[in-house]
Amino acid sequence: MDTTYTAAVITVSDKGAVGLREDTGGPLVQSMLEAAGYVVVHIAIVPDERPQIAAALVHCADDLDIALVCATGGTGFAPRDVTPEATIEVCERLCPGIPEAMRAASMKVTDRAMLSRMAAGIRGGSLIVNLPGSPKAIRENLEAVLPALAHGLEMLRTPQRDHGQA
Ligand code: MTE
Repeated sequence: MDTTYTAAVITVSDKGAVGLREDTGGPLVQSMLEAAGYVVVHIAIVPDERPQIAAALVHCADDLDIALVCATGGTGFAPRDVTPEATIEVCERLCPGIPEAMRAASMKVTDRAMLSRMAAGIRGGSLIVNLPGSPKAIRENLEAVLPALAHGLEMLRTPQRDHGQA
């Protein structure tokens, strides 16, 4: 990565938020981002509550201007899984190609990949990306898209640049 970008990791978990489950997903996302050259400047754990997830994402984008905001967990079919809805609510522009790529890569590993409702989108200068909650799924999904994200951030955060279009 030519430019160093900031990143945030938001773990979405009812049990994690009250200390009933050790957060293993968040630290894995953080280590994968750091290995790819990101500086993780903010981490948080929030319960599976749409307003709290939305507020955490807005804080990262509007107050902290973090380049890449990863939210892990709450993307499945359980009644309290609402991370995609909170993400879509706060994003100004959606980036469907990112979750499409993650699901396409993950379908080669398990057909349960289709059960992840992950979303991704842009708010201001921040790219928000959902990830599943389990460490195995995090690794398989994030590995599939991480190399391409830096180019997206470059386009997002240097708007005056000529991107090669006429
Ligand atoms: N993607 C990959 N690559 N590997 C997996 O094991 N698990 C799936 C899916 N995506 C999985 C995966 C399962 S079982 C579910 S329910 C969804 O992610 C949602 O996960 P979440 O509820 O932890 O967000």
